[in-house]
Amino acid sequence: MRIIVGITGGIAAYKAPELVRLLKKQGHEVRCAATEHALQFVTRVTLETVSGAPLYSDLFASGRTEHISLKDWGEMLIVAPATANIIGKVANGIADDALSTLLLAFSGKPVIMAPAMNCEMWAHPAVQRNIETLKAWDIRMVGPEEGELACGVNGVGRMSEPDAIAAAVCNSESRTPNSELGKWLVTAGPTYERIDSVRFIGNYSSGKMGFALAQALADAGAEVELVAGPTSLKIDHPRVKVTRIESAREMYAAATEVFPHCNGAILSAAVADYRPSECADHKLKKNGSEGMHLDLVQNPDILATLGTMKTDRQTLVGFALETDNEEANAQHKLEKKNLDYIVLNSLRDAGAGFGVDTNKVTIISRNGNRKESPLLSKKEVARLIVETITP
Ligand code: CTP
Repeated sequence: MRIIVGITGGIAAYKAPELVRLLKKQGHEVRCAATEHALQFVTRVTLETVSGAPLYSDLFASGRTEHISLKDWGEMLIVAPATANIIGKVANGIADDALSTLLLAFSGKPVIMAPAMNCEMWAHPAVQRNIETLKAWDIRMVGPEEGELACGVNGVGRMSEPDAIAAAVCNSESRTPNSELGKWLVTAGPTYERIDSVRFIGNYSSGKMGFALAQALADAGAEVELVAGPTSLKIDHPRVKVTRIESAREMYAAATEVFPHCNGAILSAAVADYRPSECADHKLKKNGSEGMHLDLVQNPDILATLGTMKTDRQTLVGFALETDNEEANAQHKLEKKNLDYIVLNSLRDAGAGFGVDTNKVTIISRNGNRKESPLLSKKEVARLIVETITP
């Protein structure tokens, strides 16, 4: 692919040559465009050497229509780092230098931005409003990350590392969005069942698999309703709407409300099967050595309920976490809950299951087909599941 890397004036500009090098290593052709301020942090010679092409930085130096010929040449534009200034300019239609002019001319083609700035600047309502505007125009944001910033404080504002930005390019390249996928529901994470005002029953689910599924579906072109239990994970995608809930009953309410409007649903949440029959509105006190007994009642089964609501045009996918008799148990769950597919995780497989970044699954379909994955990252597993279950 022919990629333009735009560099603006932040300290993270020193990482831009590394990004160019990685993209070239992936086989892309790269040209750079930089603002005047960027050239305070990284030199023209460096950018021209790593890209192997002249740098575009002056609107008037090399013919007044360079921004047009360069935008015709480029198939994707990445701005890394993207300062609050360039984000504000694009969101407000300002084109007063080479890069901002190129960005406004670059419509209809993928743009990725990797914001980098001080954490107070990132949190400013003007910057957040501009980011929302750009996301609504399908400009994809990678980062910023939390960590130590150049000014010495810790906070959100660090540019994502070049390898993460290069991976985002790979992701958006490999799929042509398919708007026929329509809307999909995904459930993710654990549920918390309250015991009293400070305690709950929960589980170790991180939500990583569900968030990766939401991302993979959105990347494939679907609109996604992600209903997520308590997790610190975030997702930044213009086609993903996140509803945060706490308990199984809240997840049930959110899921049953959106499912009739969806073409399909993937239920990957680790829903608590039981909840305390009563929740105290104050903190329960110890009662000496007598011990404590919690009375538990069963939660509604969201997946089974959606199985009864499902129409012929909808696809329903569940997960099964099993320790023994894995395939037979999964097959039984598929039939009992009226599913089209069940994704089996075996806890016997090292690297699969809760908390880890990897997974190994078997996808079993209603008509008996099975696809087994090797140990992959959860992102890769998510892509495999989405490829298997979507038309
Ligand atoms: N699930 C759900 N609502 C529940 C419990 C589970 O939607 N109250 C969904 C999970 O998101 C997952 C699937 O059901 O997709 C499998 O859940 P699991 O707990 O393994 O199966 P159960 O049917 O509860 O059976 P068992 O606990 O006996 O293994």
